[in-house]
Amino acid sequence: MSDQMHDRGPAPDSLGRGPAPDSRDLEPESLHRATIEYYNLRQVHGDMPHRIPRGPAPDLPAEQARMVRESQEAMRGRRVLEVASGTGSASREIAETAMSVTGIEIALNMLDLAAANDNPSNVSYLAGDAFDLGSIAPGRRFDGGFAAGFLHTCPASRYAEFLHGFHARLEQGAVVFMRSSRPTSPDAVSRLFMVEGRTDQFMTRQLSDGSEYIMVENDPTEEDLQRIFEPLSNNLMVHVGNYWWWIRYELP
Ligand SMILES: C[S@@+](CC[C@H](N)C(=O)[O-])C[C@H]1O[C@@H](n2cnc3c(N)ncnc32)[C@H](O)[C@@H]1O
Repeated sequence: MSDQMHDRGPAPDSLGRGPAPDSRDLEPESLHRATIEYYNLRQVHGDMPHRIPRGPAPDLPAEQARMVRESQEAMRGRRVLEVASGTGSASREIAETAMSVTGIEIALNMLDLAAANDNPSNVSYLAGDAFDLGSIAPGRRFDGGFAAGFLHTCPASRYAEFLHGFHARLEQGAVVFMRSSRPTSPDAVSRLFMVEGRTDQFMTRQLSDGSEYIMVENDPTEEDLQRIFEPLSNNLMVHVGNYWWWIRYELP
């Protein structure tokens, strides 16, 4: 994020209101830095309260329960490499069925919270970057890959880099499960914007101290997910719900 970012007003919304973002803030390295800074400081300040309430969402608990159930089934009995494990909430979910879960997380405040949680003995966490997994846990073998809440913040220009490095750490025939929330609440929609000439969608996130962060917030369609993952996988399953999307596949 450029130094000016904190002094500007909000980035433009999807209707094009507000000032144009500094194009330097949209480069992959700036987005990477902003993402780490946001997640580190979110633990300190907390998110700015939503301006627009979501309203009733009676189907949300059932969709979430199905996603968790399918995550656990996909990872059952596997030695799982998880990227972007955050505070470990999804790690602990899949640890109920997985043989082991090794979570990789880049924001050190998140990692500290994960470690301080009540973790089962088959869960461990390591500091690391999802884009640089080569030297993480050397010698460890994984037959499950898992990522919750990561791919939507990954610039499309880095999908190939991320997936190549992630898959390289998994055994042949490994099962991969990825899931992300969808920015469908009225508050999230009000903070989304596109920029001409860029394929990613962006979101302005604000912490309660008033600081702002531009991050990628992609919301792939079923066709997008098929196009990205079909060439790399066997038995791809794609589900796009109202609140989350998730995919399951096997590595050839
Ligand atoms: C939306 S949170 C999801 C956390 C957790 N997986 C969950 O479902 O509760 C996204 C997490 O991804 C982490 N993250 C973002 N970019 C990363 C990267 N390049 N390498 C590792 N972790 C990353 C963030 O620090 C944050 O903890």
